[in-house]
Amino acid sequence: MIENLERVEHSDMRLEQAKRDYYRRRAKEEGYRSRAAFKLKQMNNKYHLMRRGSKVIDIGSAPGGWAQVSSELVGNVGQVIGVDLEPVEPVSKNTTLLQEDILSPSVSESILNALRGEKADLVLADLSPKLSGVWDMDHYKQIDLCNSVIDILPSILDKQGSCLMKAFQGDEFQNLLKRMKESFDRVEISKPNASRKESSEVYLVGLNFTGQVPKRLSEELPSLHPSEEHLDSSVSDWQESLGT
Ligand SMILES: C[S@@+](CC[C@H](N)C(=O)[O-])C[C@H]1O[C@@H](n2cnc3c(N)ncnc32)[C@H](O)[C@@H]1O
Repeated sequence: MIENLERVEHSDMRLEQAKRDYYRRRAKEEGYRSRAAFKLKQMNNKYHLMRRGSKVIDIGSAPGGWAQVSSELVGNVGQVIGVDLEPVEPVSKNTTLLQEDILSPSVSESILNALRGEKADLVLADLSPKLSGVWDMDHYKQIDLCNSVIDILPSILDKQGSCLMKAFQGDEFQNLLKRMKESFDRVEISKPNASRKESSEVYLVGLNFTGQVPKRLSEELPSLHPSEEHLDSSVSDWQESLGT
């Protein structure tokens, strides 16, 4: 029985490795800077988040895979604003790249300046903090980044606009989901095929922004003693976050 289980787990791992290699090879062949580009393509096919002419803000944009996909989809009448702590190589004429911290109080002003005062139709957030391997702390930091994006939505996202946000599952996830549900008419949880099955990341898709967001639900610090299960998931998240 245990042997059978181990065999199934082993073949699951081999399948996941093959899937990762497949998307990595396709990204190289098709000129995308990250395997993550396929996650956005798959979710955009499902939810029709952007089209020609859309104004898109891509938060956590380095190395630029999502910015490349967005730039192609919105075309030369649309606009993409990328924001990351790290510098990003130029993408295309319709794409402006800002090297800024999403936690900085001036970030929404910089974004609005780049959009010449207009709000966006779509906010993307594929944020991952530098992972420490202490799972609770990494989860907490990642959710804090998501909450910082929600905090600034009223100043950067048009009413009726959409938001696609990566979130690490864990203790704070339900609070984040609740906050998203109070900010959008409809919220779905998505796990695209290009995302590793064993990673704790999922994507929240918020449709029809109400124009307002509720206050944060929790500011508590997490425990610094991760369980073994959480450490396993941290290794996957680390690989997922590097796009390896
Ligand atoms: C998984 S990567 C994004 C990959 C990207 N979507 C792509 O397709 O190329 C996560 C990014 O979040 C960025 N990040 C983390 N904390 C940030 C912060 N406080 N402000 C801005 N960007 C941040 C990291 O620098 C990293 O580049």
